[in-house]
Amino acid sequence: MKPKIRPRDPRFSSGPCTKRPFWSLDNLKDASLGRSHRSAEGKAKLGEVIDRSRAVLGIPDAWRIGIVPASDTGAFEMAMWSLLGARGVDAFAWESFGQGWVTDLEKQLRIKDLRKFLADYGEVPDFSEADPGRDIVFTWNGTTSGARVPDGEWIADDRGGLTLCDATSAVFAMELPWEKLDVVTWSWQKVMGGEAAHGMLVLGPRAVERLQGYTPPWPLPKIFRMTSGGKLIEGIFRGETINTPSLLCVEDALDGLRWAEEIGGLPALIARSEANLGAIAGWVARTDWVDFLVGDPRARSCTSVCLKIVAPWFAALDEAARAAAPKRMVKLLEDEGAAYDVDGYRDAPPGLRIWAGATVETSDLEALFPWLDWAADTVAAEQVS
Ligand SMILES: Cc1ncc(COP(=O)(O)O)c(C=O)c1O
Repeated sequence: MKPKIRPRDPRFSSGPCTKRPFWSLDNLKDASLGRSHRSAEGKAKLGEVIDRSRAVLGIPDAWRIGIVPASDTGAFEMAMWSLLGARGVDAFAWESFGQGWVTDLEKQLRIKDLRKFLADYGEVPDFSEADPGRDIVFTWNGTTSGARVPDGEWIADDRGGLTLCDATSAVFAMELPWEKLDVVTWSWQKVMGGEAAHGMLVLGPRAVERLQGYTPPWPLPKIFRMTSGGKLIEGIFRGETINTPSLLCVEDALDGLRWAEEIGGLPALIARSEANLGAIAGWVARTDWVDFLVGDPRARSCTSVCLKIVAPWFAALDEAARAAAPKRMVKLLEDEGAAYDVDGYRDAPPGLRIWAGATVETSDLEALFPWLDWAADTVAAEQVS
């Protein structure tokens, strides 16, 4: 039976993620449109994003926060290209984005002393292998597999190397141990439901020390350069961006941060996301055709929740039909306006991926579950007919 009630907001994409509840374009009417980002007003807006991000996330005062070009990718590449090569690198990867950083370490930066700790979709590598004397590159939440780092205990407080953490689908939904993270990056369009194309780059004191005392052997394009004459360009971390940002996106980022403050800050954002994961876990527990892609509950993401189909009808399909089945479900759900963008990532095993970050309402997930059951039943029936 087709369910009667649809989610109020059927947007469950893993990025750009749905806007906060009751978001409206009217909230952006104070944007500094048509003004220079280097005007006092423009710089104040950019500085406000930095200050509010610091306050909501509890980022220590000694950690610098910058707004940089090209989204999370821009921020993370900028960090890798500026900082790495001084020491051996330990890279941990367990899904597409982490693997992308490993490819860059190997093929672009050509780090000679590179150790790779890899795990398949649904697993995480053994983080205890990390050598604190080396630089460590990893992703906090693997968006395409739904597996996250369970905790930061494996990162030594007295490490000699730097930790570079791509935290784009973790930040604002998970607790991050800032003192253990020398570089953290994210983008606005994930947990806060902001607009894309701007990256956030957080640098701890030891990363700044590396920047000022080390020159990588490769050329750095202008949009990656954070030093001038061997000194950190401090302005970048006060809102003097390297190139032109969108002040409309900036206003939207501020709207998201103000909303976060209103609902109770980081604890409330984390609670919303964990409650969403809890709701999905409840449904998975009472539903026999579906299971989490990630076996270990401690490693299950509370933002990008990846699910696999475990019904006998699905197991009996050949590889091509197994790849097609979730796509058919996704099409049925989109045609009904019940859920958008819940297909698994293109490189991940066939399945569904549901964004459960802080902007998603638990009531929308509860309304979604009967639709997922309906779509699975419909596709199962199509296999036998
Ligand atoms: C873990 C991770 N890293 C990097 C990216 C790329 O982010 P962006 O598109 O903001 O550059 C994504 C996007 O989904 C991601 O999930």
